[in-house]
Amino acid sequence: MLIALGSDHAGYQLKEQVISYLKSSGITYKDYGVFNEESSDYPDQAARVAQAVKSGVHTFGILICGTGIGMSIVANKHRGIRAALCSEPYSARLAREHNNANVLTMGSRVIGPGLAEAIVSIFISTDFAGGRHERRLGKIEQLNHYQV
Ligand code: RB5
Repeated sequence: MLIALGSDHAGYQLKEQVISYLKSSGITYKDYGVFNEESSDYPDQAARVAQAVKSGVHTFGILICGTGIGMSIVANKHRGIRAALCSEPYSARLAREHNNANVLTMGSRVIGPGLAEAIVSIFISTDFAGGRHERRLGKIEQLNHYQV
């Protein structure tokens, strides 16, 4: 499994903590930045990670900004990307089981590192349930002419 990670300045610290967790769990990742806490624009990293996931190089993307909202808005503009903003593990599990989400977004000003670890852990280890959810995802796909 190869995870694509990205954050803006607000999410930088939490991204580093998520990276420590991935390293200690033996999960491979690629960090698309940012690499410091200088002010940056979240659409830049969100687009980079979304394109990388869309290209098929990565199984999942993880995007972190202050709230997770901006990252989610930008990532969901990309065809084939289903980004889910999660602040607790239950939503993270259902984002995978029901929505087949391939990008997780989180807010560093909303949750701490312990919760982020739990969310990442369940997100990357839960499979899509398929069945009736396939039909619903098909309907989402039909709306893709609105996306880049
Ligand atoms: C940066 O101040 C903040 O706006 C950004 O990290 C994010 O929360 C946007 O959605």
